Amino acid sequence: MITKLDTGYLLHTKNTTYAFDVMETGHLEHLYYGKKIYVQNIEPLKEKHAFPPGNGICYDDKNYPKLALEDIRLEMSGMGHGDIREPFVELIYGDGNTSVDFLFEKAEITKGKDEFATLPGSYDEKGEVEHLCITLIDRNYPVKLELHYYVYEDCDVITRSSRLINYGSESVQIKRLMSNQIDFDRAGYVLTSFTGAWAREMKRQQVKISSGMHVVSSFTGNSSNRANPFVMLSKEHTTENAGDCFGFNLIYSSNHFEAVQVSAYGKTRFLSGINPRNFSYLLEEGEAFEAPEAVMTYSPNGFNAMSKNMHRFVREHIVRGQWKYKERPVLLNSWEACYFKINERKLLSLAKAGKEVGIELFVLDDGWFGDRDNDTKGLGDWDVNKKKFPKGLKGLSEKIKALGMDFGVWVEPEMVNTDSNLYREHPDWTIEAPVGLHSEGRHQRILDLTRKDVQDFLIEKMTEVFSSGEISYVKWDMNRDFTDYYSKELPPDRQQEVAHRYIVGLYRVMKELVTRFPHILFEGCASGGDRFDLGILCYFPQIWASDDTDAVCRAKMQTGYSYGYPMSTVSAHVSAVPNHQTLRTTPLSTRFNVAAFGVLGYECNLKDMKKEDLEVIEEQIALYKQWRKTLQFGDFYRGEDWDDNHTEWTCVSPEQTKAVSMMVQYLVEPNTRYVCLKPQGLNGDTVYRFYNIEQKCKIKDFGSLVNMISPVYVKQDSLLHNAIDKFVKLPGEVENELASGDMLMYCGIKLKQGFAGTGLDENVRIYQDFGSRLYFMEG
Ligand code: DGJ
Repeated sequence: MITKLDTGYLLHTKNTTYAFDVMETGHLEHLYYGKKIYVQNIEPLKEKHAFPPGNGICYDDKNYPKLALEDIRLEMSGMGHGDIREPFVELIYGDGNTSVDFLFEKAEITKGKDEFATLPGSYDEKGEVEHLCITLIDRNYPVKLELHYYVYEDCDVITRSSRLINYGSESVQIKRLMSNQIDFDRAGYVLTSFTGAWAREMKRQQVKISSGMHVVSSFTGNSSNRANPFVMLSKEHTTENAGDCFGFNLIYSSNHFEAVQVSAYGKTRFLSGINPRNFSYLLEEGEAFEAPEAVMTYSPNGFNAMSKNMHRFVREHIVRGQWKYKERPVLLNSWEACYFKINERKLLSLAKAGKEVGIELFVLDDGWFGDRDNDTKGLGDWDVNKKKFPKGLKGLSEKIKALGMDFGVWVEPEMVNTDSNLYREHPDWTIEAPVGLHSEGRHQRILDLTRKDVQDFLIEKMTEVFSSGEISYVKWDMNRDFTDYYSKELPPDRQQEVAHRYIVGLYRVMKELVTRFPHILFEGCASGGDRFDLGILCYFPQIWASDDTDAVCRAKMQTGYSYGYPMSTVSAHVSAVPNHQTLRTTPLSTRFNVAAFGVLGYECNLKDMKKEDLEVIEEQIALYKQWRKTLQFGDFYRGEDWDDNHTEWTCVSPEQTKAVSMMVQYLVEPNTRYVCLKPQGLNGDTVYRFYNIEQKCKIKDFGSLVNMISPVYVKQDSLLHNAIDKFVKLPGEVENELASGDMLMYCGIKLKQGFAGTGLDENVRIYQDFGSRLYFMEG
């Protein structure tokens, strides 16, 4: 609910309050963001100013001698007039002046979420979201700044964006226009960001900001695997289930910027928006520029509660279309099974093997078009390679359909190899520096999507591809970062608009294609998680989280994603061992258990697998189908980090009648304490049956210890050893208990004792290195 109280504005969600005030100067003073409060009088929330701080610049000596903007919590700050902190808006006016002075003009409260003209944004099907638009006007120039606030009450989320309008006749250069600014009244917040690189996305990093400034940003032309736009601010010692925590994200897929700055007076400024580095935008007479929408939430109950708000918001107000709540199919992707060595015969036999274990969707990855035998050529030539697929995508997809599976295809529309017909025909269509060496990335260049003709070409070409067979799924890849930002079509004074214009162009292409093909399930991908963000999720409901399919890395990485993104958006596959990225061997059960908490797929050569592994995979897929609604759309919780050696997750159905937990142990330590699992999000009074799926243990896993039970001596790896291993399995531990939700959540359940070199029967839990289990609860 949005209310006006005296000169202030109060934005209430179910459990939070956000407040600001229009000062007598016309500036907006930020008053509060946190736990919901009852405010009958705005005065106590305001700072009291009797004099400006020594050495501070007074905003207006004559009329307001007590005020220095540098020490005021502002909703929006501009360059000049005393606030020397990181600004929200930075402009260069026609006369060269960079000082701005935006003051309150009017406020309007309406209902419903307007669509942006150029960018994706949140939406509200019911039209219930409340909207506050504050218009500020520069007292010296014909420029207006709108600040938009949207209140998503049930999710405890507020979104913000800004829009600059030039209603004068001189052009204005925008050097920066942020989306969100919050000036907190204290220092010492812990900033959590999620950084990484290719194949190691979303590593949680924490830094306490007591002074100075810390910036999280991307400059790769996408939201990047180097630093995701989702960040958190929390009080020190906040844990998964206790403490103050703010979560922030941006609905934007290009260069982003999140800064946390502590002022000389111990106040913390949080800013987020388009990265101002190498950015500027020329706003001509009558034009408007819109900044991306920023998302924020708060919880006093730790990171899990904050994540729950974000998850709900993303599921309900970001992801759209037919696949929003539709259970996602279990797919088999050809990439790690075949890489570029593909043809129809090979893929059909892989698909058949998939069908036998329960795969629902077969995905043809890279290599099916043009001259694409490796990554140096063919990209851009979107006509099927008839040598590999004589009957085209139509023939292949029909055969896959006849097997009883859906068919999907990989594309990378934004890119081109120079060794391609497309590049030979349109050398001017790529983004590259006008002179000198061109620095290549994966042997490819980026098509210049700032150009309308290039956007139109992609829309028509992809329409052709997506109509060329029975295509139910598309994996949309993007494998090259930007470095030399230059469009041959734009004039020199607009070259710093390239990154932003590119993403606006891409959004137009994506929007058009998802509208033309509403039944297709689109999956975003950028070398894995190089563009995992809310902008992409406005069009594509899920994203390939990483090219690293190693279960150990994935467990940590998916934990990272889970802070800001619901599991229905995180695509995860079971792959071969030794793993192709790490050469690590992890148990098949762990590969499944970890991937099952995302949108499950397989990406391995099922044709080469042992019969017993295929039987296990068949059971895994059947189990997943039984539980996928809870796993994909349930509420997700991280277990408390009680040590670095375990990861614990729980997913609970919305009705709280079903839950699944997963526990991974990284390295075995013998003879340690009891492992205790503490599921969360259950109904305290419900009595649940808590059980696991029994895992049979392999004799060979015990090495020469087999001789402790064998009547005859068994030499390791001998024929006899292998024969016993094939036919004899030891029973695994069985968990089967009744416990109330409260008992499970607060006391936790002590799992069966772990193997410690001695004593082995069905009451002993065998976790090898990287061992894991799924535990089920039904009430
Ligand atoms: C990068 C993707 O992340 C992989 O999954 C795969 O599709 C390759 N590109 C194909 O070139």
